[in-house]
Amino acid sequence: MSGYKGPMRVLSGIQPSGGMHLGNYLGAIRKFVELQHEYDCFYCVVDMHAITVWQDPEKLREQTFHIAASYLAAGVDPKIAAIFHQSGVRAHAELAWIFNCVARLGWLDRMTQFKDKAGKDKERASVGLYTYPVLQAADILVYKATHVPVGEDQKQHLELSRDIAGKFNHDFKAENFFPLPEPLIKGPGARIMSLRDGSAKMSKSDDSENACIFLKDGADAIARKIKKAKTDPEPLPSEPKGLEGRPEAANLVGIYGALSGKTDAQVLADYGGQGFGVFKPALADLVVEKIAPIGAELNRLEGDPGYLKSVLDKGAERASEVADKVVREVREIVGFVV
Ligand code: TYM
Repeated sequence: MSGYKGPMRVLSGIQPSGGMHLGNYLGAIRKFVELQHEYDCFYCVVDMHAITVWQDPEKLREQTFHIAASYLAAGVDPKIAAIFHQSGVRAHAELAWIFNCVARLGWLDRMTQFKDKAGKDKERASVGLYTYPVLQAADILVYKATHVPVGEDQKQHLELSRDIAGKFNHDFKAENFFPLPEPLIKGPGARIMSLRDGSAKMSKSDDSENACIFLKDGADAIARKIKKAKTDPEPLPSEPKGLEGRPEAANLVGIYGALSGKTDAQVLADYGGQGFGVFKPALADLVVEKIAPIGAELNRLEGDPGYLKSVLDKGAERASEVADKVVREVREIVGFVV
């Protein structure tokens, strides 16, 4: 952040493109809850990012409420942090356009998420998917956010946000106008892997329904998915070094640690030498204890879309006050008639 003197602010977002899962919870939302007591926080549901790939309109609205309800159910307090939908704050799109003119094609060409999502037939991908990380930079910098809690998969996008902020400040001789936002990635849970394949991250779009634990899964579904989780035939090692080359075992130990607040070493001190027949039921009990109450609250909140809409509208109003001011300054800096 070097010489930036503005207030410390946090911004993060989640796409309403599927059900909220354990990876989103441990990599992102849990941090949102902790940070709201330390910083001025803005948490959005990034519906404009979601439409970079096809979304059924009715489902998109439903999923937007689902993500907002997940924030609330996990403990984000709308009286403390602004919870809103990205499309409800027009300034994101306006700043994204200006940033499209700052970011370089070469920078976007290096984005691995575009390559993964566009697949082999990139000619058929939307232009929005290509310029997705530029909108993400606008989400962050339209609040001059200094800190961004995310999982490890967002590291490259955060680096691009820093590059865009730096180039804008430099090109327009607006030293320290934008902070260079810091990703907050560290900590257990930054990279939760699929339960069916320890080399792929847990993802909303996984084809196998047993690969992913959703916040809405009940106790039975959680226990079944953990029971079916891929493992190897060896018992757990007594030290973390023994997890090397055993990605599925390492993932389950990591989930246990992230939910219990223990390090891998502490988990292995308790379970080293035991087989998965003992460890999996203990893990299932822990996941049910921590996740099922959030799922129950989530179901309750989804039954009250009027309340969810009022939270989003109020949040968007509050966020717009900050964002509109920043965009007005940007308009002046770039030379628009204001
Ligand atoms: P999205 O919707 O894919 O994921 C939301 C958040 O969850 C984290 N996450 C994970 N963490 C650990 N293990 C996993 N398996 C896992 N899967 C997902 C993600 O890292 C993320 O923090 N581009 C973003 C959304 C976005 C955004 C932003 C984020 C748009 N604008 C501005 C931060 C700031 C995305 O697709 O997240």
